[in-house]
Amino acid sequence: MHATTHQARSKRASRFIGLGLNLGFAIALLAFGGAASAQSAEKGKEGYVKHGCWQCHGFQGQGSAITGPKLAPDPKPLAFMEVFLRNTKGTMPPYYQHILSKQDLADIHAYLASIPKGPDYKSIPLLNQ
Ligand code: HEC
Repeated sequence: MHATTHQARSKRASRFIGLGLNLGFAIALLAFGGAASAQSAEKGKEGYVKHGCWQCHGFQGQGSAITGPKLAPDPKPLAFMEVFLRNTKGTMPPYYQHILSKQDLADIHAYLASIPKGPDYKSIPLLNQ
């Protein structure tokens, strides 16, 4: 009996430590971005499609003059996005926490951050004649 309780307790403790490590890992991904965030950018792409962001902002976050502004390349910081998405009262519908979790939004941000810039026109010979 005593042993079982102890085991349960240590199982709980290790789960807690595991959670801490996962959070630390997620924060490291957010902080270092780039290649390390490939996995969450991948999830973010799914989230971006699932939550319909693409319908107004385009699949590449390129935006459209009619439906919604450009989000990428160079997305605004995650903190800005979160405040905007939770509070907006304009044309764009708000996305509350229960609809789009902070983690899902962080993944979407990673996806937007992973979208490369278009080439500089100076590197395209045809445009420099
Ligand atoms: C129904 C169309 C629509 C959908 C769906 C939509 N947006 Fe928007 N979004 C807009 C419009 C329009 C604006 C410009 C502000 C406004 O009028 O509300 C905007 C603004 C934003 C901004 C602020 C841009 C800036 O530079 O200030 C962010 C960030 C953003 N959207 C992210 C998202 C994300 C992420 C999703 C999906 C989870 C999403 N939007 C879904 C229409 C949409």
